Amino acid sequence: MSSSKSRSSLIILGTAIAASVVTYIAYEYFNSHKKSTVNNKNQVLELPTIELSTFFNRDKNIDDYKAECAKVADALHKYGLCIVRDPRVHEEHNNKFLDMMEVYFGKSDGIRDARPEYHYQVGVTPQFIEKPRDHCSKLGSLGPDDKPLSPCPPELDPKWRFFWRVGPVPPKTKFPALNADDVIPPDMPQWKDVMDMWGNKMMDALFTLAEMAAVGFDIPNDSFTSKMKFGPHLLAPTGSDYSKFGKEGTVLAGYHYDLNFLTIHGKSRFPGLHVWTRDGKRAGVRIPDGCLLVQAGKQIEYLTGGHVLAGYHEVIVSQGTVDVIEQRKKENKSLWRVSSTCFGHVQSDQILEPLDKFRTPTTVAQFPPIAAGDQVKLELDAISLSRS
Ligand SMILES: [Fe+2]
Repeated sequence: MSSSKSRSSLIILGTAIAASVVTYIAYEYFNSHKKSTVNNKNQVLELPTIELSTFFNRDKNIDDYKAECAKVADALHKYGLCIVRDPRVHEEHNNKFLDMMEVYFGKSDGIRDARPEYHYQVGVTPQFIEKPRDHCSKLGSLGPDDKPLSPCPPELDPKWRFFWRVGPVPPKTKFPALNADDVIPPDMPQWKDVMDMWGNKMMDALFTLAEMAAVGFDIPNDSFTSKMKFGPHLLAPTGSDYSKFGKEGTVLAGYHYDLNFLTIHGKSRFPGLHVWTRDGKRAGVRIPDGCLLVQAGKQIEYLTGGHVLAGYHEVIVSQGTVDVIEQRKKENKSLWRVSSTCFGHVQSDQILEPLDKFRTPTTVAQFPPIAAGDQVKLELDAISLSRS
């Protein structure tokens, strides 16, 4: 009995390895045979930098604070993006996190720490699991210089990911699978401290920014933060292995929007993120040292009835990326591109629908009420992470 069990386990493992090898070979074939169509003409977007220090000094200077809040609201509406400087976050915090994740992605087998039974919403997601939603029908409206490099129909992303739950779990929820226990890699002793350090810093910055956005939209201060409390926030670094996927034109994360409320990133060690503005213009993004980038996701689009749109983006290997890869090779540094990304979510049992200020017959029809947990599950089904 036990030998037949171990024979079946070996067969399953063998099949999984064979499938992974076939996917990798097919991917390499595709990338070596397609023409590089990287568009290096796109502008770098000039985004406003929001100073969170004005939040902490608001009792002393309310006018500065309100002006900064108006900047948040304006940037989220126009670009679905803003740069943030938070006096509580320093570059060395980001470096500590990136250093640890480079080591982890460099040695993970992608199996031990994976939890497919929880839709990969905790633990590691190896390469070629996540596939972006199909947005091909939308691309016809984009100008020739503004098309994504991502293939149509979309293909499985070669990037890895680790999901680490941040913040307290809700005392009661109808969505326990979105609130599963974290995975701690047993060979990484500093893991929990570093993940919690970076995750909490990112979420503190997002809560502050969400309050400033509410002030900027002239709605009650806690309009967003009250819905974010006990949300399934995820620290979600991606890992892209440039020793395998470092050719110019490679798509690491295909054209997509984020399904959550707001996403926040520290600065990555490699360029390559491209974004689309509200009017469909493709642009690069540069994050100044010590700053963070915030992107709007689908849940804020719901709550604002589309006044803020979930921003489309993709991560590719550009000429700038190749330059950094070559430099880091010379310096014998890690060739894993780690994104220090954190997804801020609305709490799973909260209902997503346009807030009072954004309610019109059109927005109400366009954004019918749905529990945030159901919206997340539908999105996860669409990007092949969910098994529901
Ligand atoms: Fe994203």
